[in-house]
Amino acid sequence: MKKIFRNICWIYDKCKSSFLWISLIILIGSILSILTVGRSLVAKSLIDSSTQNIKAETIKWVIILGILLLSNIILNSINTIVSSYVCESVRNKLQSKLYNHIIYSKWMEHNKYHSVELLTRITNDVNTITNTITNTLPSIISLLVMLFSSFLALLSISPLMSLISIGIFPILILLSKVYGKKLSHFYTEIQKKETLYNRFLQESFNNILIVKSFCLENNRSKDLAAIQSKKLNLSIKKSYFSAISNGFLALSSMLGYFVVFIWGTISLSISGVSAFGDLTAMLQLFSNIQIPIYGLSSSFPQLVSALSAADRLIELENMALEIPNDEAIKNGISLTPFNENYYTEITANLSNKIYFENVDFGYVSTSAILKNISISINHGETIALIGPSGEGKTTLIRLLLCLIYPSKGNIYINEEILNINHRNLISYVPQGNTLFSGSIFENLKFGNPEATEEQILKALDMSSSLDFVNSLPNRLNTIIGEKGIGLSEGQAQRLTIARAFLRKRPILILDEATSSLDSKTELNILNQVKNLIPKPICIIITHRPSALSICDKIYKLENATLTLCTSYK
Ligand SMILES: Nc1ncnc2c1ncn2[C@@H]1O[C@H](COP(=O)(O)OP(=O)(O)OP(=O)(O)O)[C@@H](O)[C@H]1O
Ligand SMILES: [Mg+2]
Repeated sequence: MKKIFRNICWIYDKCKSSFLWISLIILIGSILSILTVGRSLVAKSLIDSSTQNIKAETIKWVIILGILLLSNIILNSINTIVSSYVCESVRNKLQSKLYNHIIYSKWMEHNKYHSVELLTRITNDVNTITNTITNTLPSIISLLVMLFSSFLALLSISPLMSLISIGIFPILILLSKVYGKKLSHFYTEIQKKETLYNRFLQESFNNILIVKSFCLENNRSKDLAAIQSKKLNLSIKKSYFSAISNGFLALSSMLGYFVVFIWGTISLSISGVSAFGDLTAMLQLFSNIQIPIYGLSSSFPQLVSALSAADRLIELENMALEIPNDEAIKNGISLTPFNENYYTEITANLSNKIYFENVDFGYVSTSAILKNISISINHGETIALIGPSGEGKTTLIRLLLCLIYPSKGNIYINEEILNINHRNLISYVPQGNTLFSGSIFENLKFGNPEATEEQILKALDMSSSLDFVNSLPNRLNTIIGEKGIGLSEGQAQRLTIARAFLRKRPILILDEATSSLDSKTELNILNQVKNLIPKPICIIITHRPSALSICDKIYKLENATLTLCTSYK
């Protein structure tokens, strides 16, 4: 119960800025419900006056009925337009809040989720909540208005019938108790299966090369069928469950209708034609009560789904933020903006250095990746970081980028304890292919959104990319596919280096950035790195001896410890 209340408050908090619009939808819906009940009463008066042959009265009621029908059409159209506007804007707001939260949260938090899991939550779960707020909730309220006003109208015609009409309520309450828990379970399970399914599809398409070269097409098809069959089973179970619950409701409603009908027929035979109007109104009002009851029961799963979706989104919102300041996220401000003066100052300052002081780190507390690491990198120095695969070289860089934090010891930049703002002093070429889909120009602009064409061409030249980019038919506007598809591995690497050159920061980190290049191209690029003005601190992670020639010092990381190599063989 406490959790339900928390989830309702959370949904309210996220949607309160659209409260007025939602209220408008509710108001229009409620007016439409009252018009429906009004129509039943007008129909009764119309039948009464026409059976009693009162011409003027009959014309009056025909006109009123016409006006009611016309108002119904107009209000319905307005409702459709307003609802779709509100639905879209509530969805956008909710999605951008969550998106911002995710991208501002700590890097390690992301590791807990598969990217498809995040995608499913930010799309499916947000849609579930948006639809509930902008469609289900207003329709529930207008159904309640219809139910209540029909009940009052029926009460004025026949108190006994009005009681019979709501006799279905106790059954409904009983069903909702059992139904709610089970439905919530179904929703969560279905979303899990949906994530699994999307993950399977995404990974198949991402790794189509592996599927093909390992001749896995048949296996993947079978795996897909297995996942689909599990999804289908779950849907069937849910449908059985809903069908049985709805069957109970329909049966109770039918019994009620049967009683009203028999009672009406008997009173018709007693009172004669004068009871025609009453009988018509009663049957209409009775169904006006039954329709909302049905409507409410079919809205119930949607409500339960929205609460379960809120649960899954609250979990995302609990991802710890990098900047513990909610305001910064709301306003879209991230880190301290990079300051040119600071750059000049920090690079001109000869005492400027990076200093690791007895740093320990482990992704899990039980196994240390880095132990008692101490290293000092001075202004203008280029150092190489070597060592066997999996020993923690990239991990050390992640510490420097403040993506992870030491479990012991401290890291300093220029005598200041390293903090997230220092990330802005770093230009980084990560290991692996990190290009976005889009044009080469757009990719390079990630390095510096304000870069001029001249600066871009210079960065391309320095990274030995200018010739190959110029040879492409669309040059800078050439579109690269996902993960740099359309380019060779080495070309993609050179573009990521150009992107880092454009960023122009006092610390440059190359993590196996030249691993796919031939030695001549590699040396050309490394010489450019060496001759950068102003000279940044440069950390080069490499397995290749050729890269070591431009480095001032070489450190080897092995068995969680870092040692300075006096000579490298
Ligand atoms: N996100 C992570 N969560 C848990 N463990 C991780 C994570 N990333 C890396 N590791 C582990 O940390 C260790 C060091 O990984 P790291 O990527 O730093 O190695 P590396 O020296 O850069 O290797 P390579 O030369 O192959 O790139 C590895 O044993 C790896 O399994
Ligand atoms: Mg690595």
